[in-house]
Amino acid sequence: MKFFVDTAETDQIAELNDLGMVDGVTTNPSLILKSGRDILEVTKEIAEMVEGPVSAEVVALKADEMIAEGRKLAKIADNIAVKVPLTWDGLKACKVLSGEGNMVNVTLCFSANQALLAAKAGATFISPFIGRLDDINLDGMDLIADIRTIYDNYGFDTQILAASIRSVNHAYQAAMIGADVMTAPPAVIKKMAEHPLTDAGLETFMADWAKTGQQIL
Ligand code: E4P
Repeated sequence: MKFFVDTAETDQIAELNDLGMVDGVTTNPSLILKSGRDILEVTKEIAEMVEGPVSAEVVALKADEMIAEGRKLAKIADNIAVKVPLTWDGLKACKVLSGEGNMVNVTLCFSANQALLAAKAGATFISPFIGRLDDINLDGMDLIADIRTIYDNYGFDTQILAASIRSVNHAYQAAMIGADVMTAPPAVIKKMAEHPLTDAGLETFMADWAKTGQQIL
């Protein structure tokens, strides 16, 4: 499973990237706002730091304007994935931008039928939003499983990018189902290293080691 980091905070991306945990980055208008940075400048900085795809989202609502914005974003670096919303206009933009050889991430996906359309429009990534479905009492993981089945049934090579990951359990379940990629905030990725039995075991080992009176260095 590939890990994308869902943030525009470059210091946090750098820390995870140094550990080899970053296969790509996703941003959106809300994350750009949170960073307080200029979209073109921060996207360029991230794309230079990370080898994998860096998603940058268009903000136009009409297909022709999305295409123009997408072309501009794609010029930032070779590893830009243009992010378009899952609307009819977004699908039109996806078809054109992917046809021009750009990676396209179709975002705000909340149904299997939407994911099917995105694959047919040539999406590189489809981003089903797990957490936002959970927020309205629906099971986001059912959607990931349905898309996996449909894409496998018909051999689509669009990658399932499990998005809106809010917990370590989301990450675990998405991996079990076979999402190709997950994008998660840095805090969730770091929390995946934690286990209470690891902490308890380490505490015992440290206490016993102190009793030996030995030192390694
Ligand atoms: C990723 O591409 C999305 O922008 C992101 O995962 C949304 O997450 P949220 O629902 O926690 O805002």
